[in-house]
Amino acid sequence: MSAVPSLRHLLLLRPRLRFIALSTSSSPFLSYAPSHHFSPSSLRVLSSSSSPTLTQEEADEAVGKGSSLIDVNPPRGTRDFPPDDMRLRNWLFQNFREVSRILSFEEVDFPVLELEALFIRKAGEEITQQLYNFEDKGGRRVVLRPEITPSLARLVIKQGKSVSLPLKWFTIGQCWRYERMTRGRRREHYQWNMDIFGVSKVRGEAELIQAIVLLFERLGINSSDVGIRVSSRKVLQAVLQMYAIPDNLFTQVCVIVDKLGKITREEIEKELLSLGVSIQAVNGIIEVLSLKSLSKLEEVLGSEEEAVSELKKLFSLAESYGYADWICFDASVVRGLAYYTGIVFEAFDREGKLRAICGGGRYDRLLSTFGSEDIPACGFGFGDAVIVELLKDKGLLPDLAHRVDDIVFPLDEVLDGTASRIASSLRKKGRSVDLVEDKRLKWVFKHAERIGASRLILVGNSEWERGAVRVKNLSTREEFEVKIDELV
Ligand code: HAM
Repeated sequence: MSAVPSLRHLLLLRPRLRFIALSTSSSPFLSYAPSHHFSPSSLRVLSSSSSPTLTQEEADEAVGKGSSLIDVNPPRGTRDFPPDDMRLRNWLFQNFREVSRILSFEEVDFPVLELEALFIRKAGEEITQQLYNFEDKGGRRVVLRPEITPSLARLVIKQGKSVSLPLKWFTIGQCWRYERMTRGRRREHYQWNMDIFGVSKVRGEAELIQAIVLLFERLGINSSDVGIRVSSRKVLQAVLQMYAIPDNLFTQVCVIVDKLGKITREEIEKELLSLGVSIQAVNGIIEVLSLKSLSKLEEVLGSEEEAVSELKKLFSLAESYGYADWICFDASVVRGLAYYTGIVFEAFDREGKLRAICGGGRYDRLLSTFGSEDIPACGFGFGDAVIVELLKDKGLLPDLAHRVDDIVFPLDEVLDGTASRIASSLRKKGRSVDLVEDKRLKWVFKHAERIGASRLILVGNSEWERGAVRVKNLSTREEFEVKIDELV
């Protein structure tokens, strides 16, 4: 017997797998239910009490002697996208694309597989410890990208002088991080990125934040649901200068300080002290990072400080754009990626239940870390997972049923060819047509309702003899005989 279970055998298994089907099919996109890995021997534990449990022999027999049912779950932390989830994903991505278009950004794309060298950074970032990295068959060290920014930088360098600045690019792509999974954090996720190269003023960040706000508004989320915390790494830089801490420690200090709230203050202190930062400086840093008002920051750093003037400019632009109620200053936002150099921001749910919805900032010196000339740049990444959790919590998930225009149904097998011609001609006119065969009329009506078809086209013998079909308008319930040539 073949090792692959036959359809008949799988059908035999089906009633007993009911409970499992429910638990595993619980939409991974929508609910992120923990995936259950199961094998025939574990079916006994999982099967419902109403159905008899499956013995190992039965399972072996059902799936083919000597083989066991494969694990039907995707690898831990990754998702399948059955039709309902795919519709939701497409809807979200359409909104990402539409906002990008409105902001005049062009779409780009990159391989998910990149050379590892692009992601080797020495600042101790979490992301570099979560790499899906391996050697390919040619002995090259490669990674499944954990983020898209380095690929963007690579392409900007590759295109060189042929691109005219400023350049505004967006992309939507899958990223891989070997993460500890929490709600909205997965090992694979899609990220919408918008990035601007060649704008050094805060106009760049102001445009990006408008894009984020427009997206939220399109999804039905308002500023009482979500806020965007904004700060600048230049705040930390100024504090480090106050305590005469060498510039070369800046990135490492940022990466450590970003862990505030995730690990204890004592642990942060320990890490900073081991870098050579004095205890006075540690206390100074932590004190400044607790500031939540721009005027307080101005008192501490002085109005001449670049961090202060840039942030003030951003908040004044936010008034002009009309999104000031979405943003707030919060010095504790530092972000965990090494390359940020200026303004940084993160969107959060005001109920505080979820991880960051999106995040970004300015990274004016990334290109030189790849050996190229720097170009000022800023951008953000917006994941597909946390936003869906939020939409679910707020009851804002859209109703996205599968929809077709027409169902064509031959009432007699001899009319198969005619039904094919009718379906084909309607499809050529752009209508979506489901051609149904070998079903009872009752099933066809139910199916039509389920997929929201607007018309049912019945191809029957007597009408066919008159060169016509019966057309039932499913919303008005009216029925007409229509000549085939007149069918539109
Ligand atoms: P990031 O903060 O690491 O930044 O990720 C950006 C967003 O991607 C997060 O706010 C979240 O929505 C989503 N995300 C990240 N990791 C996961 C995960 N494991 N599961 C689900 N969603 C996740 C970056 O990646 C930067 N490259 C963004 C950027 C673009 N900065 C400038 N340009």
